[in-house]
Amino acid sequence: MSQLDEILLQAQTAFAQATDSNALEQAKALFLGKSGQITELLKGLGKLDAEARRAAGAEINACKTAVEAALEARRDALRTAALEQQLAAEALDVTLPGRGAGHGGLHPVTRTQERYETLFHSIGFEVADGPEIETDWYNFTALNTPENHPARSMHDTFYLQNGENVLLRTHTSPVQIRAMQAHAKLHAGKDVMPDLRIIAPGRVYRVDSDATHSPMFHQVEGLWVGKDISFAGMKGVIIDFLQRFFETEELQVRLRPSFFPFTEPSAEIDFAFMTGPNKGRWLEISGCGMVHPNVLRFGGIDPEKYTGFAFGMGLDRLTMLRYGVNDLRQFFENDLRFLSQFSE
Ligand code: PHE
Repeated sequence: MSQLDEILLQAQTAFAQATDSNALEQAKALFLGKSGQITELLKGLGKLDAEARRAAGAEINACKTAVEAALEARRDALRTAALEQQLAAEALDVTLPGRGAGHGGLHPVTRTQERYETLFHSIGFEVADGPEIETDWYNFTALNTPENHPARSMHDTFYLQNGENVLLRTHTSPVQIRAMQAHAKLHAGKDVMPDLRIIAPGRVYRVDSDATHSPMFHQVEGLWVGKDISFAGMKGVIIDFLQRFFETEELQVRLRPSFFPFTEPSAEIDFAFMTGPNKGRWLEISGCGMVHPNVLRFGGIDPEKYTGFAFGMGLDRLTMLRYGVNDLRQFFENDLRFLSQFSE
């Protein structure tokens, strides 16, 4: 066996014995590295005369090519083996059951709001909207609550520092004014203004926090303005709503005289279930009353021609009663163990 055949055989053996790419690169150095066997032979060519150099050079180069080919083949083999090992380690068992997509669900208060909207839609109410960051004027003044009126202190709220007279609205009642203004503008100049019938659900804010009060909570305003709108009509609308909302006619409703600057007369609506776990307990659910003439005027509507009623209900309260939840704060803690009980 010639010396070159010997080297080739040694290289093939060394490469075959290398079981990872590190070992292979070290084995490569023995033959093709700076002082590897083949490199040394090539260096020795300089000592030969021209003809011998050409012949020996060709042979050495042929050997070098063969060694390089063996190296490349081994590299491929190791790469394939490593890949196979990785695939085996990361093997997926496609027969395992899936993890499931994790259904989202509507928040219980959102469900109540949607239910509320559906019920009021069915008797011709539209949904109106207004900003949560309100001006002092819409939140108080236009609702017949001038500066220094004692009713303002019942509505302690969050004032925004860098806006003049700008605050987080304390109730949804400012939407009454906005809706009346828009309605009056839309029908300006006509002999008869069609009825305005809206509900306005949304967030409101007060400085208040305990098991039944949260600094942010939800209300729904209701407003019906038109010709000959009466207190009796309001009572009918509210009783009908409560019966449909709680899916029972076994309800007692009472109107208790109260005061709001923006309604006259004003009342609190209480109701009691005649059956079930809350049987016989009076629950306060809404403030209401006939829209004060000043408020109609601020809304751009002539109180000599039109009357209206308004009410403001607590959406969270309705949700608590419907689902039997006794701590309001649970609605806003975002604990999925609580919330997931309400998704379908
Ligand atoms: N805005 C009142 C409140 O938040 C409720 C209310 C609305 C009363 C409409 C009368 C008419 O307490």
